[in-house]
Amino acid sequence: MRTVIYPGSFDPLTNGHLDVIQRAVKLFDRVIVAVAQNDSKNPLFNITERVDLVKQAVAHLPQVDADSFDGLLVDYVESRSGQAVVRGLRAISDFEFEFQMALMNRKLNERVETIFMMPKDTYTFLSSRIVKEIARLGGDVSSFVPAHVQAALKGKLSKA
Ligand code: PNS
Repeated sequence: MRTVIYPGSFDPLTNGHLDVIQRAVKLFDRVIVAVAQNDSKNPLFNITERVDLVKQAVAHLPQVDADSFDGLLVDYVESRSGQAVVRGLRAISDFEFEFQMALMNRKLNERVETIFMMPKDTYTFLSSRIVKEIARLGGDVSSFVPAHVQAALKGKLSKA
């Protein structure tokens, strides 16, 4: 059983994240989308809401689970008997941070491999941060996130 962990803030999940999940499913028996608590990032959605948005998005994919984690990623990977971490690489600008994180994780635990996958080119410009900004300013995000995420953004921002 080959298990990969897909960690991130997922605040909120976008179609770019879903694209990476669908690609990872082709390579691994099990994909665990691990939502980082990351309170220091001041997320718009709390951890329960972020996990729930992921769960709804992957409900049609039986090999995919959604979970949350706090603490070191490599410890979480071990606790779920994972072999690897997958991260999406959109552009060169992602590379420096991703490279640093992958090598640091390897230093912390040599058994955990990091795999990078490129999402579909139409998602190269997409990020949760930009989606939140567009939604906040009343723009249309329907082609960037699943419908339930769009509804959640609307609900959250109307209360803000
Ligand atoms: O979606 P993000 O915000 O780019 O995801 C970053 C994340 C959550 C993958 C990263 O911050 C992380 O792995 N945090 C867990 C803490 C940890 O293990 N830090 C050391 C890795 S360098």
